[in-house]
Amino acid sequence: MSWTSLLDRSYVPYSGEPKACLVEGSSGKIYAGVRIENISYPLTIPAVQAACAICLSEKDTPAKIYVQNRELEQLAFWTVEFHMKVVETDEPPVVDREDLQMNPSSTFSAIDELKSLLNQAVTTNSDFPVSALLFTENGYFEGVNVEVSDWTQGICAERVAIAKAYAHGDTEFTKMEIHTRKGEFSSPCGACRQVIVELLPYHDVVLHHADGTLSEHITVDLLPFSFKSSALNKKK
Ligand code: THU
Repeated sequence: MSWTSLLDRSYVPYSGEPKACLVEGSSGKIYAGVRIENISYPLTIPAVQAACAICLSEKDTPAKIYVQNRELEQLAFWTVEFHMKVVETDEPPVVDREDLQMNPSSTFSAIDELKSLLNQAVTTNSDFPVSALLFTENGYFEGVNVEVSDWTQGICAERVAIAKAYAHGDTEFTKMEIHTRKGEFSSPCGACRQVIVELLPYHDVVLHHADGTLSEHITVDLLPFSFKSSALNKKK
């Protein structure tokens, strides 16, 4: 894969400046990450955070990062956190597509999948695992929450699933399903709602609660009066 084809998977309507990187886990598997902007700029998912969190969500450990140049947000933090080697190259390695899971059969049970996925959450600080399935026309992407030493650089399960889908260039979203084992009501946080409403505006969200019940919602209903502004021009 070339940098150009990976960069094209970024979602950068505000800056018009795509960013991408590839992280090699200690298993040898390669994970892509692309920049996913948000109308609320601080909620943007940087390419480095995306790739590292995807790697960690697969129970792998970031060992090496391939970049075209060093102009990437959070590169310093993640490099130090995992003692990653930074490789600047014009010829990126090939990405594995294994984490794009196809819906296997009609016997597929989202809740069974979500429950077993909780074991992949990296919850060093909170001990509060969250799992998410993001469905597209082609299959689904799995996400779990990932925590690191700096709480502000961790990422929620919902956004890891979104990061995976973008990194694979598969963004014909249909619905999202979310689960937490603890707490009364499985509910995406405000930051995730802002991201979800921008990327899946009128889609179904199924919340699987800890007591075994579920509730179904339309994404826009989860965030009334969400931040949008026609004054914020898109560059792309
Ligand atoms: N968390 C999620 O993964 N999704 C949400 O919508 C709410 C919060 C995670 C983030 C952190 O790892 C832990 O739950 C506690 O905030």
